[in-house]
Formats: sequence, structure tokens, C-alpha cells
Amino acid sequence: MADVTIHKGLDNVIIDESRLSLVNGAEGKLVYSGYKIEDLAANALYEEVVYLLWNGRLPNKAELELLRAEIAENAFVAPEILEILKHLPKNSDPMAVMRSAVSLLAHYDPDSEDTSAEANRRKAVRLNGQAVTLAAAWARIRKGLGPVPPRLDLNLAQNFIYMLRDEAPEASAVNAINAYMVLLTEHGMNASTFSARVTVSTGSDMHSAIVSAIGTLKGPAHGGANAEAMKMFLEIGDPANVQTWFDENIKSGKRRIMGIGHRVYKALDPRAAVLRDRAEALAVGSGNGKWFEIADKLAILARANEYFIERNLHPNVDYFSAIVLYTLDLDVDMFTPLFAMSRMAGWTAHIMEQAANNRLVRPDVLYTGPVDLVWTSLEER
Ligand code: ACO
Repeated sequence: MADVTIHKGLDNVIIDESRLSLVNGAEGKLVYSGYKIEDLAANALYEEVVYLLWNGRLPNKAELELLRAEIAENAFVAPEILEILKHLPKNSDPMAVMRSAVSLLAHYDPDSEDTSAEANRRKAVRLNGQAVTLAAAWARIRKGLGPVPPRLDLNLAQNFIYMLRDEAPEASAVNAINAYMVLLTEHGMNASTFSARVTVSTGSDMHSAIVSAIGTLKGPAHGGANAEAMKMFLEIGDPANVQTWFDENIKSGKRRIMGIGHRVYKALDPRAAVLRDRAEALAVGSGNGKWFEIADKLAILARANEYFIERNLHPNVDYFSAIVLYTLDLDVDMFTPLFAMSRMAGWTAHIMEQAANNRLVRPDVLYTGPVDLVWTSLEER
């Protein structure tokens, strides 16, 4: 077995072709089906990006309205599921709740076991709306508040703010959430998307694949980093403490800066650049600029440090998005469910792409254990 190459962590292993997104890690560029992320974040409605991913082109006005309305109409979550959520411990991890809730959705979805392209399209529409409803519902249920049903006339970003606050959605919050959702929609063969594709490659169904993806996104090395980054900013507490905190925790090698570093990006994550500007405007505009100041100061300190320069470690999408979400008054542990609801379009697009041209994903490992051991009975051991 001497000539076997082990691709631990699967770095740079190309598993298939995809028309969904281009992640250029060397230059820090991200493109969804031909369009630069910066243009989409500045101009597109989340549903426009969903249409783009699912159809490979931007919708016209009528097509966009049709999809917006279709998603809104299908965003309702069965009352039985909301009832079950009310019985979960209020301190349950919100990503664990999302994982369970999506699994429950399958039992009430008329197409749950149908893996045809038509059924997958219908389920993708439902899941995109329902994920937003579930995130907002859990944010309220855990506080003892009743969930608010989605409104048919709203888009997803508006509906999220409306269902979260039970009041008319205010424009600046909606714009921030819409831009956040657009930036998080899709990102090549990241770990959670890969796990969704592995699941569906066995012939399993879309809900099972999304449950795999949510479980994978939950980890702090992936989507969980946005909450971990915010906890770190809160721990620092004041811009004046950044240098001491950096010296004590990072220079000493004790900890990692959460929200910094990326498997693919060896330049600045282009999403982080957009989110930095959004975070600054939102934090300053809300009179709470201190969190942005802490984050920015720490990022500048890290970028000037030899260790971070040598390893090409830059802020990733989770770093400044933490400030954006915190400024919108979201609980820190709700940040990752927001990532999940935004990534739903990318996950479902990948699931449909995998299903349309499937090959079972089944890699191998190099066995390093013994082979010729002699069986001994229990009494002899
Ligand atoms: N702070 C300090 N050092 C770091 C950091 C960090 N945030 N990230 C990586 N490093 C160092 C590692 O210690 C390692 O150093 P070494 O070569 O001396 O051992 C080197 O940089 C390479 O790190 P790896 O962990 O091997 O790189 P990998 O590609 O496996 O990891 C990861 C990428 C997991 C994102 C890593 O950078 C990390 O842990 N970052 C913090 C968590 C985070 O922000 N995750 C979100 C990623 S983006 C997303 O999923 C949406």
C-alpha cells in the first residue's frame, strides 16, 4: 500500500462538476452562476438568487413574483410540529432544534419519499420557506412567545423580521437580513453541502439530506463560528481590551480567533468585505458601534501579525456577520440557524444537481490495524 495517497480533510479533491458557484480562494472571489457576490448582495432579493441557482439564470419580474409568492404560500409549518417544539426544553441548542424540526417536516410533506425531479422542486420550495418560519418560531417559542405565521404578501427577509418581532418589518433590518441571506446562500463544496450530497447520493430523500447538512453546519469549524466569534467579541468587551486579549489568548497559541481562517480562501473572503461595511453602518447607526470597533481592531491586529500573514489567515464570512446579526438583536445562539435558513437554497440546489446526475459517494480509508490476530474465547481474555 506504499503508493496510496491519503487526502485527509479532502483538500482540493474535486468530486464532481457544478454550475452553482465558483469559489476562487486564491483571489478571494465568489460567483453564483455567473454573477459576482458583490453585485448580488447590493442588488438582489434573496428569492432572485434562489431562482438563479435553481434555473441557472436570473428571473424576469413575473417569474420572480411567482417564486416569491410560491415560497411564501409554502412557508407554513404544520401546527403539530410547532406544538412539538413548544414541548422541547427551552435551553435546547437552536441548531439541534432546527435539525429535529426539519426531520419532523418530512412526516407532514406529501412528497417526502418521492425523489423525482418534480417532487424535489416542490420540496425545495417548501423547505426554503419553512426554514425561515422555523428559525423565527424557535426564537419566540424559547422565550415563551407564540410563533407568528408567515404572511403571503412578504418576501423571505421581510417575513423573517415580521415573524421574529410580530410587527411590520422595518426596512433597515429587512435589507440587512436580505443581504446576509444572499451572501450565505451558496458556497461550493463546503462541508455541509458535501454531507447533503453524500446523503442524497445513496438515493435517500431531500429532508434526510438537509438534516445531514444542518448537523454538519452546526460545528464551530463551519457555521457555528458566527456565534463563537460573537462570544469572543463579548468576552473582549471593550475596544481598549483587544490588544491584551490578543496577547493573552492568541499570541500565546492558546486559542484560535473564531471567524478567521478558511480552508479555501487564502485571500480575504469577499463576503467578509461586504459584511464589514454592513456591520459598520448597522453598528454605528444603532448607536452601538463598540462591537464593530472590537471586531475591526482585532482583525487589523491579526492581519499585522506574522503568524496570520504566513498562514494567509483572513476574516471569513462568519466574522463580521456576527456583528450584523447581533446589531439586529438576535440571540447569539440563533446566529447559526440563520446561516442554515440562508443556505437552504444552496443545499437544495446541490441536492437537485446530485440527484440529476448521481453516483454513490463512497470514498475509502487505508486500514492500519492488525489482520492476523488469533481468536481467543472470553474466558481466556
Ligand atoms: N486562529 C489562529 N490560528 C489559526 C486559525 C485561527 N482562526 N485558523 C487556522 N489557524 C492556523 C492553524 O493553527 C494552523 O497552524 P499550523 O500550520 O501552525 O498548525 C494553520 O492556521 C492552518 O489551519 P488548519 O486548521 O489546518 O486549516 P483548515 O483549512 O483545516 O481550517 C478552519 C480552516 C477550520 C476554518 C480554521 O481556519 C478555523 O478553525 N477557523 C476558526 C473557525 C472558523 O472561523 N470557522 C468558519 C469557517 S467559514 C465557514 O465555514 C462558513
